[in-house]
Amino acid sequence: MNELKVRAINEGERRAVYGLLAEALHASPPDDTNWERVERSFPADRTLAAFDGATPVGMASSFATSIAVPGGKTLPAAAVDGVAVRADHTRRGIVTSLLTEQLRDCVRRGDLVAALHASEATIYGRFGYGPAVLGQSLRIVNSRAVLRPEAPSSGRVRLLDEDEAIGLVPKLYRRIGPHRPGMIERPDLWWPAYHNRLVRGGGGEHRVAVHTGPDGEDGYVVFHTSNQQAPDDSQFKVVLEVRDLQAADPAAAIGLWRFLIGMDLVAEIRAPARPVDEPLRALVTDLRAVQTTGLEDHNWLRLLDAGAALAARTYREAPPVVFGLEDKLLPENTGAYRISADGATKTEAPAQLRMTADVLAMLYLGEWTASALAGAGRITVADPAALPAADELFRVGVRPWCGTYF
Ligand SMILES: CC(C)(COP(=O)(O)OP(=O)(O)OC[C@H]1O[C@@H](n2cnc3c(N)ncnc32)[C@H](O)[C@@H]1OP(=O)(O)O)[C@@H](O)C(=O)NCCC(=O)NCCS
Repeated sequence: MNELKVRAINEGERRAVYGLLAEALHASPPDDTNWERVERSFPADRTLAAFDGATPVGMASSFATSIAVPGGKTLPAAAVDGVAVRADHTRRGIVTSLLTEQLRDCVRRGDLVAALHASEATIYGRFGYGPAVLGQSLRIVNSRAVLRPEAPSSGRVRLLDEDEAIGLVPKLYRRIGPHRPGMIERPDLWWPAYHNRLVRGGGGEHRVAVHTGPDGEDGYVVFHTSNQQAPDDSQFKVVLEVRDLQAADPAAAIGLWRFLIGMDLVAEIRAPARPVDEPLRALVTDLRAVQTTGLEDHNWLRLLDAGAALAARTYREAPPVVFGLEDKLLPENTGAYRISADGATKTEAPAQLRMTADVLAMLYLGEWTASALAGAGRITVADPAALPAADELFRVGVRPWCGTYF
């Protein structure tokens, strides 16, 4: 084997590197038509690869976005959208070299955090990523799901044709904006792959419905239906899968759910990766009509500039706590941070709670509590009084959610 070299790729190397990613994820490399559709979503910029001679054998890519954090600010962020090593080159440290270099590259670009969706939960903790956002998979039994009379009902829903959907959905997502912690902006380059995957097939036909409230269009849902009727069954069993449901406010979300639940012939709705606090059970007369079929790590987060990221979110009123952070891959983050309702600053004071970068990421958006993580042995506690204070400082009203696949 030649000596491996990690470097940014050039324009001419994009398709081979994309093919490597597809193969590692057990998909087919793109043919000419597919490449034409996805290549705009796969720029050379921000893609690193490991080369064995001239052949790419590993890759890590990201796109620039911004992410909402508690308190309402959005921070410049890297969305890590591709990580792969060729099957005959794994377990030789290639992804370690790539992700270490990618972290430094993102820091140089000014990203304050990085985020990703993990194919396996055992890979990214060592690189300082923590499962910062959970998501639930929902199953709704339509025949039992009757909306309560007091469930808000305003606005109307209309179905769009494909061209209208392709034009309207990005505009609507932009208008809705990343309004809850964990949501990201979807840059222009993100949309062609989405259209390719969702609206123009790839798993079947999708339909798009838009909700209009008192101030105009304020939500949409992309969904897919399939008839899963058994050959010996005379009943239709249509299963409706929600692929993307975004709403500017609870009323718009409820309007869209009302539309889906009321659709004729649909036996069951499946909605993966929904917010953990989606209030559907409170909306129906029989709360058991809404079932959680899974709770998954939805989004992993990595603080790249811990000081700036900690200072950017808000904290609740509670006694100040000094957090000690150990960050082996980005040692400039290692140190102590004093966090209070007034914000976060670096300090020389002794740490009351000590943790690694992945654990701090789990706390950051408010998904986990310090007490729970200390109980699990993930936080070293020098001062037990700091735990309830830390729980209160980081507490959030709305659970984090991403809602964008990348
Ligand atoms: C997952 C993958 C990227 C790892 O690449 P790699 O170059 O083999 O990883 P490295 O050799 O740098 O290993 C780094 C560490 O992670 C561990 N590791 C690597 N892959 C792992 C896996 N799938 N599960 C658990 N641990 C894994 C290694 O044992 C090693 O541990 P150590 O530091 O304690 O020795 C590669 O196996 C791959 O491409 N898999 C298929 C595609 C995929 O899952 N991509 C991720 C998309 S999110």
